[in-house]
Amino acid sequence: MDILVVGSGGREHAIVWALSKSPRVNRLYCAPGNGGIASLAQCVDIAATDLDGMTDFARETGVDLVFVASDDPLALGMVDRMEEAGIRAFGPRAQAAALESSKAFSKDLMKRYGIPTAAYAVFSQLEEALSYVETHPLPLVVKADGLALGKGALIARTRDEARDAVRSMLEGHAFGAAGATVVIEEYMEGDELTVMVFTDGETVVPMPCARDHKRAFDGDKGLNTGGMGAIVPGHRATEAERKEWMDLIIRPTVDAMRAEGRRFQGVLYCELMLTPLGPRVIEFNARFGDPEAQAVLPLLRTDLVEIVEAVIDRRLNEIAVEWDSSESCCVVMASGGYPEKYQKGYEITGLDEVEALVFHAGTRRESDRIVTNGGRVLAVTALAEHLEDAIAAAYREVAKIHFRDRHFRTDIGHRSTGR
Ligand code: AMP
Ligand code: GLY
Repeated sequence: MDILVVGSGGREHAIVWALSKSPRVNRLYCAPGNGGIASLAQCVDIAATDLDGMTDFARETGVDLVFVASDDPLALGMVDRMEEAGIRAFGPRAQAAALESSKAFSKDLMKRYGIPTAAYAVFSQLEEALSYVETHPLPLVVKADGLALGKGALIARTRDEARDAVRSMLEGHAFGAAGATVVIEEYMEGDELTVMVFTDGETVVPMPCARDHKRAFDGDKGLNTGGMGAIVPGHRATEAERKEWMDLIIRPTVDAMRAEGRRFQGVLYCELMLTPLGPRVIEFNARFGDPEAQAVLPLLRTDLVEIVEAVIDRRLNEIAVEWDSSESCCVVMASGGYPEKYQKGYEITGLDEVEALVFHAGTRRESDRIVTNGGRVLAVTALAEHLEDAIAAAYREVAKIHFRDRHFRTDIGHRSTGR
């Protein structure tokens, strides 16, 4: 079968890599792809958000399946468009992807169905938002409603900070249309965890839980980024905890979406806060996490194509999904300056010597060289029986890769080895 993957980051490289191992796959395409994906798939220069271009390409090439991996095309309705064109597509339709693309929608859904999350209110009027800020306890979390590359949430520890955040979104249009509505919510204390599941809208198949590291610098300092590294397991969870996440949060959400006529088919990503009062939802995403996918997919034993088809055909209950018992660590190497200003076009060396998985994000091929082409450049994933050995292996391999001004965190997973 021929498959087109939509997207261009490390997550997409991990997905293409997992698909490439399937005996069922003939040709792989990725649009737009990157310098690393190009060694496994034919990269096609179509923007991930170009619905017309992507649908035309899929139709003309006669691909059997389209895997929509990133958030923007899902929110824009790429899966709907493919289906209208008679092409099988993996990922939620736009109505279901709203769980990620509108925080106001997902918060309201959680409230209506009793799914535990931080208390909140939604505003599009400046004065109302400002008066809420005056009367609610600090810290407060101010979030843009729409998609903002993981950078649309601000934790305000003073009223001045909260007022500034509200003003910059509602008045200064800091996140454009995504910030024309803001969600202001209660601050939750606890450890963060990523729980991703495959779902066909009814059956739910959990993946091993993961932990992202969002801040740019060691010790969780610096600005929020798309993610600087991930580990599996994200938490040494007991059977009872895992059951609680499914029974209290994931299944009720999947059922709620079906009840709302927004059946969710694809990968549901739940970011949890493990608070002293129990697990609470920080947010939902409608796709694999990045970098979490790069730590989780290498542990998947079952053919990803089998899972994808079972999700699309709504028969996920018929297949057994198996995982390797290894633990994993993924360390992201970024361009110096990310997530703010950075330079592109630096040559990357040492890749041939690496004895671990390397997933490219912002890279580009330039004749026989690979050069940097984005903020997050690539990531190294290592597996081992114990997390601490996976961490050591990932860092040993990271040390072999060089490019000018490279930046990576040196403490990925260090709080979580559980030993
Ligand atoms: P989000 O864009 O909703 O994923 O938020 C980005 C980051 O802000 C999260 O990964 C958390 O670290 C933090 N955050 C978001 N909401 C809350 C909250 N209600 N309480 C504490 N931290 C939060
Ligand atoms: N790692 C966070 C995300 O994918 O949204």
